[in-house]
Order: sequence, then structure tokens, then C-alpha cells
Amino acid sequence: MMKNTICLIDSGIGGLSILDEIKSAKANLDYIYCADQAFFPYGNLTEQEVVDRVLYLTSMLELRYQFDILVVACNTASTVVLPRLRAKLKIPVVGVVPAVKPAALLTKTLNIGILATEATVQRDYTKGLIETYAEGVQVTLLGSNRLVEICEEKVCHEIIDYDELRTILQPMLKNTSIDVLVLACTHFPWLREEIQHIFGSGVKIIHSGAAIANRVSY
Ligand code: DGL
Repeated sequence: MMKNTICLIDSGIGGLSILDEIKSAKANLDYIYCADQAFFPYGNLTEQEVVDRVLYLTSMLELRYQFDILVVACNTASTVVLPRLRAKLKIPVVGVVPAVKPAALLTKTLNIGILATEATVQRDYTKGLIETYAEGVQVTLLGSNRLVEICEEKVCHEIIDYDELRTILQPMLKNTSIDVLVLACTHFPWLREEIQHIFGSGVKIIHSGAAIANRVSY
């Protein structure tokens, strides 16, 4: 297997969930990880600000490092920046977008939930994925920027407040028919256990990590 250098970008620790999946699929790997804490959280930026920031960051990274693949390990950024990045860079650019298609294929109750940043749930890209891949499926969208902060806090060993988590997730919990929940923010796998505990074992939680690992593992 060829050894590639992969560059991953996220606003913080979210993309590490993608890196973990890539590492398990591809042992022979060099990587550069860019956590853009200066502009965290991307969910609070306008579309134009996210596009400008990610284009600027990739230019800086290209000046300093050599890499073969760029992974935009962030749904909030990928849903707006991919066409511009692909036009600009000569290397493959892989984005992380909400796993709507696999969720629609998995659901038995024809009810799925998508948990993302407030920006991602409003994106035309996300609406397009739902129209294309989730016809006939009831989709409950929930955006929370606070959940992103809680993930960063967890990594800094702050104690998780389950009451706060339950309050954030309440609009989604109300729909008891949901049997598949998409974590459409790369930060959220950090809270997978807690979210699973709150939803119960009847809800299958998925995210795009494994699919991205397959795409970059050649
Ligand atoms: N990890 C990101 C995502 O997948 C960004 C979260 C944020 O910075 O708001 O959307």
C-alpha cells in the first residue's frame, strides 16, 4: 500500500474522529492535523467567512507542508467550500457531509434524525442530500452549536452535564419513531456514548467517519 500524507482540517478536535477511522483503515499513513481554534466554532461563522477561512488555511498549509490528500473533516465547512477547494487545489479533496444516504437505507421506521451545527442544518447542501436520498423518509433536523462546545469541554476533562445534554436533544427525543440518528458534525462522535445512553439502544447512531476512511484508503 502506498504511503500518503493526508492533511485534515477542522475547527477543533472534531476531525480527530475522522482521523481515528482513517488510521484504523490505513496503517501506513502520515498526516497533518489542523485544528483551527482561532476561528472556532465554524458553526457561528457566515458561509462566506467559512469559505474564505478554509481557502486561506489551505494556502498556508500548502506553503509549509507537502500532502497528497486534503480532508475537510468538518460538515459545516464541507457543505459550502468543496467546489472552491477542488477548483483551487491539484490534489484530491475529500469532504465530510451528513450521512443521509446510509441513514435512509438503514431506517426501518422511515424516521431518521440529523444532529449537526445550526449552520449545517440550514445549508442548501443538506437540504439537497435529504431531497435526493431520503425520499419518503421523515427527517428530523436538530442544530446545536452548544453541543460542539461540550465536545471540546469533554476533551479538556470537564464533567458532562446530562441534564443539559437532554435539554439540547429534547426536540429530537420527542420523535420516538426515530431509529437512526446521524451525527452530522465531526465533533459529535466524542459524545457518542452519552448520546446513545440518552436515546437508548433502539436508536442506531451513525456518522461519516468510516465512509471517509474508505475513500482515502487506497
Ligand atoms: N466539526 C465541525 C463540523 O463537523 C465544526 C463544528 C464547529 O466548529 O462549529 O461541523
